[in-house]
Amino acid sequence: MIEDMKSKILRLKKEKKAVILAHNYQIDEVQEIADYIGDSLALSKIAMNVKEDTIVFCGVKFMAETAKILAPDKKVLLPVAEAGCPMADMVTAENLRKTKKEYPEAVVVCYVNSSADVKAESDICCTSANALEVIKSIDSDKILFVPDRNLASYIKSQVKDKQIDMWQGFCIVHNRVSEDNLSYIKENYPVAPILVHPECRPEIIEHADFVGSTSEIIKKVKELKDKKIIIGTEEGILYTLKKQNPDKEFILLSNKLACVNMKKTTLQDVSNALENDINRIEIDETIREKAYNSLIRMISL
Ligand code: 13P
Ligand code: SF4
Repeated sequence: MIEDMKSKILRLKKEKKAVILAHNYQIDEVQEIADYIGDSLALSKIAMNVKEDTIVFCGVKFMAETAKILAPDKKVLLPVAEAGCPMADMVTAENLRKTKKEYPEAVVVCYVNSSADVKAESDICCTSANALEVIKSIDSDKILFVPDRNLASYIKSQVKDKQIDMWQGFCIVHNRVSEDNLSYIKENYPVAPILVHPECRPEIIEHADFVGSTSEIIKKVKELKDKKIIIGTEEGILYTLKKQNPDKEFILLSNKLACVNMKKTTLQDVSNALENDINRIEIDETIREKAYNSLIRMISL
């Protein structure tokens, strides 16, 4: 049954001249049929350069929107329209416009986990993979960072010479990792390195051995000699980690590390999207151009 669905998707993909991009948090079956798997930064760069006419983006809405902003001539399909990111919804363009008035000198940096409208209101975008590089590249010492307060706090701990004011958004998944989870892990796996995503809370990040985007965590794991490794990010990352490192054991920092939105996309949804061109991403051209500027400023660094 699953194999039939996979064959159908591969056939449709050829027929429709489509490419399938999947984020590291997608369910295993979706990652298996993807042409490219990656973090937000890698997938946006890939979207810009693919030769196919259609991009099926298996991820959440802001990711598919980012692809459309960067590749406006492509047809971008999000298999499940309701696959959103609650953190991205914690800031709206209207709220941001109001808040900007309180910080007239600040450069507005938006995390890629934000809507196209918010990107359009921002000066430069960043992802978890390049946030420090982006902040350091800014020649003003006043920054307003939206929407993730945990990523902003992490940047603040690493870049001391800038005043960083932050929005109070957070990822409902990473923010769940608690100090109790950490104590349990430290007690039971005292020597295992802890690798976390910067969307975790500062109290957790402080005790981590490595902080990075999903793809950076995947890269770091390959380099480590340890046989037991603690992972502080969404559980979908285990697909690649286990595949690439069959000799290593991975322990999630918490048993609540599943993002329901990332798990909404099934093989059936990918097949429907391809077959019927559903959930096509469209962005108003004025918004797209502004959002493009903040993304391209990041990409050209
Ligand atoms: P990455 O950019 O690290 O893949 O993360 C995206 C995300 O949504 C994390 O929760
Ligand atoms: Fe959004 Fe968090 Fe899910 Fe990433 S893991 S898509 S930040 S809710």
